[in-house]
Amino acid sequence: MSAASERRVRVELGERSYDVVIGSGLLAHAGRWLEPLLERPRRLVVITDPHVAAAQLDRLRAGLGNRGADIITVPTGERAKSWGELERLLDRLLGLTIDRRTLLLALGGGVVGDLAGFAASIALRGLDFVQLPTTLLAQVDSSVGGKTAINTAAGKNLVGAFYQPRLVLADVDCLDTLPARELRAGYAEMVKHAVIADRPMFEWFEDHGAAVIAGDAAARGRAVEHSCVTKAAIVGADEREGGVRAHLNFGHTFGHALETATGFGDRLLHGESVALGMVMAMRLSEHVLGCPADDTARLTAHLAALGLPTRLADVAGPPLDPRATIAHMAVDKKAKGGRPSFILAPRLGEVRVVDDVDPRLVEAAFVATA
Ligand code: GLY
Repeated sequence: MSAASERRVRVELGERSYDVVIGSGLLAHAGRWLEPLLERPRRLVVITDPHVAAAQLDRLRAGLGNRGADIITVPTGERAKSWGELERLLDRLLGLTIDRRTLLLALGGGVVGDLAGFAASIALRGLDFVQLPTTLLAQVDSSVGGKTAINTAAGKNLVGAFYQPRLVLADVDCLDTLPARELRAGYAEMVKHAVIADRPMFEWFEDHGAAVIAGDAAARGRAVEHSCVTKAAIVGADEREGGVRAHLNFGHTFGHALETATGFGDRLLHGESVALGMVMAMRLSEHVLGCPADDTARLTAHLAALGLPTRLADVAGPPLDPRATIAHMAVDKKAKGGRPSFILAPRLGEVRVVDDVDPRLVEAAFVATA
């Protein structure tokens, strides 16, 4: 994508509205993009992790020009989303004698964005922050929409805030150095956005998905933009997940159970659990909503063709016990009265929330995905 072809998506939330800018060279010209937020001298603090810092920080520093920034690094990986790391981050921030006008820049993937965003929401009762997502998953999902959180003993993402960034800069150049496995995991969330709301776009993914993964800049730009447009529309309509925002959780009820059972680690990345969870959700949809089996087969074939897990056998390590795994759904924060609600598809391109699903059908969908 050339410097002139940035794509801009507006998240409409009244006075908290903001742009998601998608394009090449955004970090290298960060100062220019941040200019509207920097009318008066303003202290900048970059929050990042050591891996991202090694790959992207020089580029961002150069992009900020002579505007200095303090850098705070947090540990790499999910363990950074903890009370302890939140406390350490806040202590370091407050140790910089920041004020209410300090602007935080969250440079990294979903973990950095979630932790830095939550810290921004509570430091001095709320600091402005900008998301600089460096992974595909963060660019198409977690950096957009203002969900911020840490994990606690009770579960993942159970303590946090809806707190919107002032701007999101999704620099697609960052994707060039992303490990292939992480790229594919992010791709699953992009396909999800087509499955829940846009069948023609799913068909586009069938034709262009390989190009997106291979690094075709135009295909990547279009795909990332589609996800951001879909997500922006949903968040604009239902910021706090009272209704339609729940549709974004398609594949996540099974996925969350799979992630919990595999320890939220390298065995199954979040996006991979969503891929497998979507296949299970489609199978369940066949029984609950009469979704055509052909639609399940198409989604499964597409995900598998791009190297994503679509069967339990694709998950490394010991076999997952269906009942024990499914039991993790009950602790999901979206569960009502101990029974999870499901996002199910009457057909590819359309979903709805379904409560009170017969647990035997849930188990059957799980087992059928062996
Ligand atoms: N990732 C789901 C949401 O932002 O609502």
